[in-house]
Amino acid sequence: MLLEFQRVRKEYALPGGKTLTALHTVDLAIRQGETVALTGRSGSGKSTLLHLAAGIDRPTSGSILLRGREVSSLSDRARTRERRNTVGLLYQFFHLLPHLSVMENVLLPAWIAGDPAPASRARAGELIERVGLAGRERQAVEQLSGGEMQRVALCRALMRKPLLLLADEPTGNLDDETGRAVMDLLFELVTDADAALLYVTHSDEVAARASRRLAIHSGRVEGS
Ligand SMILES: Nc1ncnc2c1ncn2[C@@H]1O[C@H](COP(=O)(O)OP(=O)(O)O)[C@@H](O)[C@H]1O
Ligand SMILES: [Mg+2]
Repeated sequence: MLLEFQRVRKEYALPGGKTLTALHTVDLAIRQGETVALTGRSGSGKSTLLHLAAGIDRPTSGSILLRGREVSSLSDRARTRERRNTVGLLYQFFHLLPHLSVMENVLLPAWIAGDPAPASRARAGELIERVGLAGRERQAVEQLSGGEMQRVALCRALMRKPLLLLADEPTGNLDDETGRAVMDLLFELVTDADAALLYVTHSDEVAARASRRLAIHSGRVEGS
């Protein structure tokens, strides 16, 4: 199994000593090559679940396993290393560095990981071409449209060949048609790489593309 949640609970400490339970005893399993849509109301725990899957945050109790290895109990440093090697992330508001170029944004994960520069540039160039942005490598991303920015973010997320791509409302800031084009590319590239995809969406049309759907209600996941 690629990703497993075993009785995962997440509580947040609130000011005044209270706690908020964002996830209640979540069990889930995602296999290599699966595409899974996660839907639920605002505040239901979707981003919390993705952050835990990415190892950005740790569960209050329960275990999270990546490729059978428990990551929830690792140190922050080891979890970060695991994330960089295994997981790619895509966000609603892209989270690009606006003043850097398309190429620089895509190369960023490789720089951080200390990957060899020539091979990284070649891979970045291939990805940029694949998403239809060939010729735009040196342009600052702040000059791009939303759909173009999300395509750059997709290249960056895939730069280090993740096994698992996590996308938090990747079309939430795009018009329908642009969102469709981004999802087309996302599915194409994830399928080619035989990676798994877990994405959050509010759109039924976007969710319908997944091989499996999960719904979350007040921190409880229901699968189908
Ligand atoms: N860092 C945090 N500290 C306290 N509460 C948080 C924190 N992050 C999220 N929450 C709360 O946890 C619940 C789930 O949030 P979130 O996972 O962001 O939901 P969603 O992504 O489905 O909108 C919400 O009630 C939210 O206010
Ligand atoms: Mg959210």
